Amino acid sequence: MRIAVLTGGGDCPGLNAVIRAVVRKGQLAWGDDMVGIVDGWRGFLSGNLAPLDVERCRGILPRGGTILGTSRTNPYAVEGGLESLARTWHENEIDALVAIGGEDTLGVAHKLSASGYAVVGVPKTIDNDLSATELTFGFHTAVQIATDAIDRLHTTAESHDRVIVCEVMGRHAGWIATYAGIAGGAAEILVPEEDFDLDEVCESLRRRHARGRFASIVVVAEGAKPKEGSAGGSRVGTTDQFGHERLGGIGSFVAEEVERRTGFETRVTILGHVQRGGTPTAFDRVLATRFGIAAIEAVHDGAFGSMVALRADRVVRVPLAEAVTELKTVDPVLLNDVARAFRA
Ligand code: F6P
Repeated sequence: MRIAVLTGGGDCPGLNAVIRAVVRKGQLAWGDDMVGIVDGWRGFLSGNLAPLDVERCRGILPRGGTILGTSRTNPYAVEGGLESLARTWHENEIDALVAIGGEDTLGVAHKLSASGYAVVGVPKTIDNDLSATELTFGFHTAVQIATDAIDRLHTTAESHDRVIVCEVMGRHAGWIATYAGIAGGAAEILVPEEDFDLDEVCESLRRRHARGRFASIVVVAEGAKPKEGSAGGSRVGTTDQFGHERLGGIGSFVAEEVERRTGFETRVTILGHVQRGGTPTAFDRVLATRFGIAAIEAVHDGAFGSMVALRADRVVRVPLAEAVTELKTVDPVLLNDVARAFRA
């Protein structure tokens, strides 16, 4: 078979491990002819393809990013996008596509599959917010990077007896904030799932600091919002072709307010794309490899319109439609009973 592979949306540690697994298994087990689509759906529209074989995949298992490139292009939002896509598909005699991406890329994959294209999806996002799978690769790596950063912030915060606000990624869901916050012993964890009350946050910090010399780390997800409206907001103002706003600024807003309301010296650290860069953890390499092998198997079983997913530690197939229906938000039990168990 001639099989195309595409990575779309924000990059994520482990993408190369999936590409490698799809290519190796496809070529070695079935003699597939593989081709890479460059820069996600954008490459489909412009006909930008790259050769992909076992040789090209050598050494990429531990490498972050994606050797194919990625973009946030939405073929349904581009005039003539679907016609261009069809042309590239037919001119290059593509039999099937493995689309690796988050809710946006998989949403396009789902629509294409519903209109007759042979597509199999692989879920990825550092945000871990896809409900159809218990985990996405990239999340574990992002949590480890954020936790390492929080560990470092602790020692400097303690030395100066400061509050340090650490802003992490998480547009609609606070998984990274919650996991890294728990692992890093944060005093406060603010997530998009619940609008936070700044007075409550400050009161809890005051109680904590009243016990003595107590530096505090506050972890805030970029999509978290204060109850008192969107003051200081976290919107940068631009949106992508899928309608997502670019976020930024909530960490600085929280730091300024905490300092103003409590008088505690406060600093902010915004981790940003450091969380998405660099080598995937061993866990993410394994999950990505399992997903890649399962995806190429799904192609050869003709299981089009499906996505591979992790359920009860097994890689299973679920309808692509499921990947895009519901956002997986942080379990309130984890948030209230664990993340906030030691709140002052
Ligand atoms: O891919 C998810 C994500 O990392 C979000 O957590 C974040 O809001 C967004 O991507 C950032 O996107 P970009 O790299 O386009 O700025």
